[in-house]
Amino acid sequence: MELKKGYFITFEGADGCGKTTQIELLNNFLNQKGIETLMTLEPGATDLGKNLRQILLHYEKPVSDEAEMFMYLADRAQHAQMIIKPALDEKKVVLCDRYIDSTVAYQGYGRDGNIEQINILNKIATKGLKSDLTLLFDVESEIAQNRLGKTKDRLESQGMEFHKKVRNGYLELAKQNPQRIKVINANRTIDEVFLNVKNVIGEFLNI
Ligand SMILES: Nc1ncnc2c1ncn2[C@@H]1O[C@H](COP(=O)(O)OP(=O)(O)O)[C@@H](O)[C@H]1O
Ligand SMILES: [Mg+2]
Repeated sequence: MELKKGYFITFEGADGCGKTTQIELLNNFLNQKGIETLMTLEPGATDLGKNLRQILLHYEKPVSDEAEMFMYLADRAQHAQMIIKPALDEKKVVLCDRYIDSTVAYQGYGRDGNIEQINILNKIATKGLKSDLTLLFDVESEIAQNRLGKTKDRLESQGMEFHKKVRNGYLELAKQNPQRIKVINANRTIDEVFLNVKNVIGEFLNI
């Protein structure tokens, strides 16, 4: 099925909310319908990004908040310009695991960064490329942490207070962008959440 244009759909929410699970289900579902997709993620979709991701997730010495943010932004710049934009030009549905909102939620709300500045930096990194639709998988912080179990990386092993700030930050973003960001209750089973995802996507893509 040839779409009239490309669509950029991002998946957001805390680690353990089910983004990877749902993006894979949706990718298969769309492909079965004959819709061409590009499934991708941040950080680490490009070769440069893979190097940055390695540092972001596993570097053991202290990382300043600004250094961390600029690594995410460098990853995003490379990703948006080299991978996402070309795929949209080819009229693909781009499914992206984390994007701009992650930086606002984590570095902005989570770490009390300056959100106005972050918005400007995001705009520079992406050359203004925004998602058409964002699915926010909202889950109780304790549930998300339990799903992750004991194998957490550097960023996942922050305190519960931080995770709650991130969650509330995401919900605040959804409140500010009700057209673009659809909140999905991710406390439910994988099947229930996916049914919700299919409904939202079906309506959005008109399929
Ligand atoms: N709705 C759900 N209910 C219970 N477990 C889930 C649900 N969605 C995902 N999981 C499990 O929780 C863990 C984290 O899910 P994942 O999709 O990797 O989340 P994320 O990519 O947002 O970090 C995985 O082990 C996954 O199988
Ligand atoms: Mg994931």
